[in-house]
Amino acid sequence: MEKEKKWQQRTGEVGWQSPANIALVKYWGKYPVQLPMNPSLSFALKESVVRIRIAYEISKNKAFQLTGFQLNGEAHQAFAGKIEHYLISLSEAFPFIKTAQLQISSESTFPHSAGIASSAAAFSALALCICSMDEQINGRASDTATFLRQASNLARLGSGSACRSVYPGMVIWGKCEDFGEASDTHAWPLPADQVHPSFHDIRDAILIADSQSKKVSSSAGHALMHKHPYRDQRKVQAHDNLTRITEALRSGDWTLFGEITENEAMSLHSLMMSSNPGYILMHPNTLMMIKKIRNFREETQVPAYFTLDAGPNIHLIYPAAEQKQVTAFIADELAPHCENRRWIADAAGPGPQELS
Ligand code: PMV
Repeated sequence: MEKEKKWQQRTGEVGWQSPANIALVKYWGKYPVQLPMNPSLSFALKESVVRIRIAYEISKNKAFQLTGFQLNGEAHQAFAGKIEHYLISLSEAFPFIKTAQLQISSESTFPHSAGIASSAAAFSALALCICSMDEQINGRASDTATFLRQASNLARLGSGSACRSVYPGMVIWGKCEDFGEASDTHAWPLPADQVHPSFHDIRDAILIADSQSKKVSSSAGHALMHKHPYRDQRKVQAHDNLTRITEALRSGDWTLFGEITENEAMSLHSLMMSSNPGYILMHPNTLMMIKKIRNFREETQVPAYFTLDAGPNIHLIYPAAEQKQVTAFIADELAPHCENRRWIADAAGPGPQELS
């Protein structure tokens, strides 16, 4: 006879806030199931976050149902479908999902039209919520490291880069020679003593070159890496860049850090352009801003470097100590190349937070 399940808690609420992250060494290309072709490194943002709250009821005789889903206060069919699919995929590992009735609300601090990928923040917040539900429903409590590792692992299954959003500070995802703790299945935070104080307060100005959603999804881009003529060389390059950027982080070398950051951004977009079919995600304004950033750096020696996600918007990375000069530069020189002069002042943040 099957032992009757003893749920510790049948109804409840959980909530997590989790940030978007910006990669400096880019994850590009993957194997099933969401395992990276190369290691990557990113940091979590402070202002660009998603807050997810789940009210749950575990029922003995009802099948899983998403009874309500709201995105920024409104119903959103497409995203609800994605979340439903993700939760069902986790139900073998978390049997309570099979009979759960869930009401989910999701709010993001950044407008969809800002062109910032919200999936990393959303899937990490969702994964953290599932881990909290697991603790409440099954009456167990794991230590923080185990809890976060499991959340990172689950977040990865929703969106690869989401696994890095579970941690603050500099975060590595993907096996590599230099750090035995780094893994393909979950992210790993670089210990604080490996990061020089000059990298403790990093700013990220997000310059909106074009807010339209991208024409080629990340998933399609990752898939094109399988037959990419530069695939094997890209893996070598990413490993090498990870070794060198972690050296720069340790020693406080902003010049080396910036050189690798820009090299990674341009390599990512070169890989897109040289895929088959090739495609371009940069906007003419992206190029104008890159040119101006390089000129500004040459003229002022201010360590401000650009990176790009799989899209046209620039992330301008610089130390907090340079904020005044960089903000004036953005207002005078870069804002005219932003859609409606729009840019977002963000920074490295404290990572996810549980919501009361
Ligand atoms: O997590 P995905 O599948 O959306 O891929 C994200 C890929 C990049 O943002 C381009 C790079 C990265 O490492 O975040």
